[in-house]
This record gives sequence, C-alpha cells and structure tokens, in this order.
Amino acid sequence: MLGISVEEFIFWKQKQLSKGGDQQAFAHLLDCMGGISSSDINLIKINSHRILYLKKNLEYLESVWDEHLYRSCPIQYLCGITFWRNLELKVTNKVLIPRPETELIVDIVFKIFRRKSEKLIFAELGTGSGAISIALALAYPLSDIVATDIDQDALEIASKNYKNSSKQSNLKFYCGNWWSPLENFQGKIDLAISNPPYIPEDTYEKLSKEVKNFEPKVALIGGEDGLEHIREIIQKAPFFLKEKGWLILENHFDQGEKVKQLLIKNKFTSIEIVKDLSGIGRFTIGRYK
Ligand SMILES: C[S@@+](CC[C@H](N)C(=O)[O-])C[C@H]1O[C@@H](n2cnc3c(N)ncnc32)[C@H](O)[C@@H]1O
Repeated sequence: MLGISVEEFIFWKQKQLSKGGDQQAFAHLLDCMGGISSSDINLIKINSHRILYLKKNLEYLESVWDEHLYRSCPIQYLCGITFWRNLELKVTNKVLIPRPETELIVDIVFKIFRRKSEKLIFAELGTGSGAISIALALAYPLSDIVATDIDQDALEIASKNYKNSSKQSNLKFYCGNWWSPLENFQGKIDLAISNPPYIPEDTYEKLSKEVKNFEPKVALIGGEDGLEHIREIIQKAPFFLKEKGWLILENHFDQGEKVKQLLIKNKFTSIEIVKDLSGIGRFTIGRYK
C-alpha cells in the first residue's frame, strides 16, 4: 500500500479528469485498481488531512487512464473487472461487459417466481460473463440453471466468475448454438432467458469505438435486421419449455413490437413488453401456451 496526501491525490485526480472521460469510468479505475472506493473519496472531503493508501502508484493509474482515453478501451476491460447487481465479475474482451439495463431481467424473474424455495429449471442462452445465470443461481439455490454460449472462451470466464461468486453447484455451462446443447432438457425448462446479439448490421457500423473496437462482434450483431438470433430462439423454444413455461428476451430499443409478433406467431401467450428504467421497451416476455 502506498500512502499519499489527500492534497496530492485531489490535484492528481483533477488533472486526470481534465483530460477527458467520465467520472464513472474514473471511479471504476480508482475502485478496482487503486483500492479507493467512492465512499473513501467522500470521506476525504470531510477529513482533508488524511493520508490515502493506494494499491498502485499514481503513475500506474495514470497510464491506465491514458490508455482508456487514447485507445477508447473500456475501463472495465483494462481493470479486468466489472460490477453488475451485487456481483463482481471478471471481464476480458472475450465477453460483453454486462450492461446496467440488463440487471432488470433478474427482477422480471423475481416477479414471475416469487418463492425462492421452489425447485425449477432455468436456462440462459448466450451467457457471456455468466452475469444473469450467476445471479439466478444465487437467488434460487434449490433450482438448476443451465447456461449456453457459442464461445468456449466466454464460458471459461463465466465458470471462473461462478466459482468466485459462489460455493453452490446449481449452475452448469454448455458450449453450442443456442438451445442445441440442451437436448436433455426438452420439455423441462420452466423459464428461459436470453440477451442475444440484436444489433442490425448497419447499426453496428455506427457504434462507438469503445464498443466496436473492443467488445466481441459475436455478442452484438443480430444479422441484417437484428432479429436473426431472436427468431431462432423463439422458434425452437416450444421444444424446450414446459407447458406454460416462460421466455424472457432482451431486445434493441425499437424491436419490442416485432418480437411480440414473433411470439404470437409461435403460439406464445401472456405477452408483455417490459420497459427499462429509461422507459425503453427493452424486454419482451411470454409464456408458451
Ligand atoms: C449480448 S451478449 C449477452 C451476454 C450476457 N448474457 C449479458 O447479458 O451480458 C450475447 C451472447 O450470446 C453469445 N452467442 C452469440 N451467438 C450465439 C449462438 N449462436 N449460440 C449461443 N450463444 C451465442 C455470445 O457469445 C454472447 O456471449
């Protein structure tokens, strides 16, 4: 641990923020690499005579901040960590950084299955860092969660994240295309979730450098109209869901109505478009018959 005066720290912090970037990314860097949380920073405002103890020296933290600013590399990849709900997750450029808006998907499940003591089978298709599945495995310890991804590297990160978050063994990972690795679960799944790649090809080209140059393409692009994967997931869902089983999909901001029509076409009922905290129809949910 390296001790520095609060005065020196504040001067340095202002210099870094004057170069650009946002406060949230800078707070992430300080927290993950410097070992200084936002509440520590609030405390120094009250007691400016304190000595601050850092896990890494200011030169090192500055070099990471510069890399973030000049290469547009997401701060989470540079730190190797992101925070999502109450989880601390390892992330590399093999997995999408789980987004805050996706956190709500877990609350939708909580509303559907209120009793955490039930023994259910949940599936997540395209688990990436494992965020959603790990949150469900922890919240429903008696249930089994099966999670798939096409990318073996992503699954290795998801497995590590699960081991770091829990001593339970109710989450299993499978490599393969959407439902394919889940043949043994046909007709047995109470609820399936997916936040699949849904960005239309031409929209992908317009994404920020931070996303396009660093996050995995396979996690983002959903074919020409963005709905290629959503269509496949919905069409095959009836083989895997129990009668009255639920499907929850995350979609692009303007896809809710189209996803709803796909669900209707495939005989789903109780269909609802659920808004995120910004009022965007971010999730579309339905029950199989
Ligand atoms: C948008 S990311 C979602 C990751 C994570 N569930 C989340 O919400 O942060 C989509 C994920 O789907 C995976 N994926 C893409 N195509 C797939 C396919 N054909 N079968 C299974 N998984 C796929 C990607 O590797 C990626 O991890």
